Amino acid sequence: MEILEGRNLRKTYKLSRKNTVEALKGVEISIGQGEMVAIMGPSGSGKSTLMHILGLLHAPDPNHGPAPELFLAGQNVAALSDNDRTKLRARRMGFVFQDFNLVPTLTAIENVLLACDYAGIKGGAAKTAALEALGLVGLADRANHKPSELSGGEQQRVAIARALVNKPEIILADEPTGNLDSERSAEVLALLRQFNREHGQTIVLVTHDSEVGEACDRIIRMRDGRIRDHGLQASARALGGQPVAASA
Ligand SMILES: Nc1ncnc2c1ncn2[C@@H]1O[C@H](COP(=O)(O)OP(=O)(O)O)[C@@H](O)[C@H]1O
Ligand SMILES: [Mg+2]
Repeated sequence: MEILEGRNLRKTYKLSRKNTVEALKGVEISIGQGEMVAIMGPSGSGKSTLMHILGLLHAPDPNHGPAPELFLAGQNVAALSDNDRTKLRARRMGFVFQDFNLVPTLTAIENVLLACDYAGIKGGAAKTAALEALGLVGLADRANHKPSELSGGEQQRVAIARALVNKPEIILADEPTGNLDSERSAEVLALLRQFNREHGQTIVLVTHDSEVGEACDRIIRMRDGRIRDHGLQASARALGGQPVAASA
């Protein structure tokens, strides 16, 4: 079953009246439930723009070419209001970013609690969930530390705890290991893989690191605002099978 399916996804940024950047030029993408997929491609090829659309942070452009479609577990979400998109995102998605995006003045647990608040988890239940999430990433004993008192790898684990606290079906990670050395990067990757295996969470991550990409079930390759290769699932790779087609 597909958990995310997009068609005709376009995004043009207007820099001025005459100056525009076509960041996505009509993308079709299909992500299976429980897949762990890497998106790779040169800088500027539209990876982050695509992640923002898949993560319901931004809507695809409505207005040129065939209408965009974006299905989240079968529901067409391409034309939802900002408000409805925000609600769906808070309930069903978790985000991890390259620069961790933690609030520097808040402790680890307070950072995770922010995401609880956003997902409508309050009071004692929020505290329990936040501590549990920090426990899952091995940082229960760092709950009261501020980001500046944590290493880069630990900060990224706090960010992962924050992404997991609402038990999202989908985790979207934009270069989650981009600021980590290879050892920390392997730890973060192992953690994501663990959640994928144990909880069946679908994971889409952008990476420049081919080792990270190879550790995923499939690599989608982008270039110049388009997907140029949908990749082979690991099982299909082993059998020398056909590429996964974006479903028609
Ligand atoms: N907010 C923005 N305003 C204007 N142009 C943007 C914006 N975000 C991205 N772009 C441009 O869109 C293209 C794709 O960017 P992006 O999706 O960030 O690519 P990637 O993540 O693959 O590096 C690039 O040319 C980039 O400069
Ligand atoms: Mg990017």
